[in-house]
Amino acid sequence: MKKNFFIAFEGIDGSGKSTQVKLLTEKLTEAGLNVYTTCEPTEGPIGKIIRDIFSHRMEADHRTIAGLFVADRLDHLLNKTNGILKKLEEGFTVITDRYYFSSYAYQSPHMDLNWVIEANSLSAKLLRPDLNIYIDISPEMSIDRLNKGRSSIELYETLENLQNVRDKYFEVIELLKEEEKVLITDGDHSPETISNEIWNKISDDFIEAKT
Ligand code: ADP
Ligand code: TYD
Repeated sequence: MKKNFFIAFEGIDGSGKSTQVKLLTEKLTEAGLNVYTTCEPTEGPIGKIIRDIFSHRMEADHRTIAGLFVADRLDHLLNKTNGILKKLEEGFTVITDRYYFSSYAYQSPHMDLNWVIEANSLSAKLLRPDLNIYIDISPEMSIDRLNKGRSSIELYETLENLQNVRDKYFEVIELLKEEEKVLITDGDHSPETISNEIWNKISDDFIEAKT
């Protein structure tokens, strides 16, 4: 086996990230790796404030939200108890449901993309994903899946906003193609098909010669 690695899942709401995090974790565990799964916004104190804003229990300006995500991400990396850097040091392969590409895509419709990239540069310097996996679905499919699975709609979950976010994902994947590894996968396929595509890429790139 190669050394442990760090994978970030990305995509608009309802794209199937949680589903794929689970399926990839199963495959990696079966291959003998110790896997730690995590997500953003985090379960920590800054993540809690963000969740309160997204579920309309609190109100905040988009710029404040952008700053909170920067802080939540740094805590996600640096937290001494269960931070990603600590988990990697302990030998875990870490999979996160969202990382800084989410900020690039979700915050930049409201503010300057370069500011968002710059504000997240500390995180990028601390840890770049060995692979970002972007699961692509249309905003219509996103709304459809959200309506089926949720009783309330969160901040940013409108058709127009999700269209903007999806456009921004593609814009920033292109912009950062020299420094970021991104696998784009079609989220309209079955969960098993998507999972197999992801597994083919990961086993080729990170897991030593299969027999
Ligand atoms: P996310 O974590 O990106 O919000 P989820 O994995 O929670 O997405 O999936 C959102 C909804 O869509 C869930 O009801 C899930 O069962 C369903 N779903 C996930 N992947 C697929 C897929 N490939 N095809 C159809 N439905 C899917
Ligand atoms: P999440 O809990 O992953 O929602 P979902 O499972 O529906 O994809 O994320 C909550 C919301 O937070 C989601 O709408 C995306 C948003 N978000 C940002 O705006 N910026 C960020 O940096 C991150 C990590 C998430």
